[in-house]
Amino acid sequence: MQASLSSRPNIACRSQFAAGAAATSKRSRCSSVVVAGLATEKDNPFAEELKANAKHISRRGRGILASDESNATTGKRLETIGVDNTEDNRRDWRQLLYTAPDLGNYISGAIMFEETLYQKSREGVQFVDLLKEQGILPGIKVDTGLQVLPGTDGETTTQGLDNLGARCEAYYKQGARFAKWRAVLKISEGEGPSSQAILENAHGLARYAQIAQQNGLVPIVEPEVTLGPGAYSIEETAYWSERVYSHVMRLLNEYDVLLEGILLKPNMCLPGLDAPSASPAEVAKYTVRTMMRTIPPSVPGIHFLSGGMSEEESTLNLQALQDACPNSPWSLTFSYGRALQSATLKTWQGKEENWGKAQAILTALAKANSEAQLGQYKGPHPAPGGGRILQALRFGGAGK
Ligand code: 13P
Repeated sequence: MQASLSSRPNIACRSQFAAGAAATSKRSRCSSVVVAGLATEKDNPFAEELKANAKHISRRGRGILASDESNATTGKRLETIGVDNTEDNRRDWRQLLYTAPDLGNYISGAIMFEETLYQKSREGVQFVDLLKEQGILPGIKVDTGLQVLPGTDGETTTQGLDNLGARCEAYYKQGARFAKWRAVLKISEGEGPSSQAILENAHGLARYAQIAQQNGLVPIVEPEVTLGPGAYSIEETAYWSERVYSHVMRLLNEYDVLLEGILLKPNMCLPGLDAPSASPAEVAKYTVRTMMRTIPPSVPGIHFLSGGMSEEESTLNLQALQDACPNSPWSLTFSYGRALQSATLKTWQGKEENWGKAQAILTALAKANSEAQLGQYKGPHPAPGGGRILQALRFGGAGK
């Protein structure tokens, strides 16, 4: 489908930003912006579906279960409980998660890795169908991992644009209705992400979001200013997060991404790992301020990653966000991986007799976060105390 130029008044040359300040000619910059018009609301046959699915996933009292670890990272996690990294064991682990009783009361979407999207339960039922039975929309991680940017101090860009359109089309056919692409930005002592890393990652996220929407998948846009070592302050994290998100939103706009049909997955603002920790009220103050300054109200849901926070910390901080912003224009909610899976995995230990207990922990964690999303969490927490969950953050180049 081609965008009609006449339906796009004055879009050509409206910015030099998308093409960068590089020495591209004015003519070629203009044409690249015109091509981006393919993804506009008017031209996209999926527009209404994208809006409806984004709204469905981010409705109040619901969040996302992030279970899209690559096979390598899943292997690292299974290793911690002495379980081998085989396809069958990965299937069992995901089956435990997706069939937890009542999970659909608190979880509206589950992000999967490609293997899992096509996998069946032990009984031969497609995982996508098991999820749909619980009212949970299946999602798919579509990036293919991080690559170091040459000439930087270990900063990264995210790969996966090659064949992305064809892959998204196939994922939609298999039942996926949303996608995820994770970009990682680092703060080191006294220094934030470079302009190169910010621009490159914003560009990747915008191109991905445009392609996902063209193929009917709601893009989760994940610019993670990652929690790392160092004594940097919460103010620094807020400052750099603001820079990163404002660039991302600018590029989404340049690429005509339909904002009502995306979900944002950012980090909460936390101080560095070697700095004194911040209270939930402080985390909420800086996180809400950052969102208010950068994210338009047309974005339906802001689904925070847990990013290494403990299970209880993730819930308390989520609750504090609602207190700090009771009438938020977006749903301030969760898309947690480790904060939902860690205690569940420890309880399971790969043993059949622990299956039900592990599922009960997962549902209880999801319920606690659902209550926190509604500002109604009162405790006690199903996984109280506990330290940061920093193990097996990411493994190799192929994913988180
Ligand atoms: P964590 O909640 O473990 O940070 O994972 C969420 C996620 O999907 C990061 O890409």
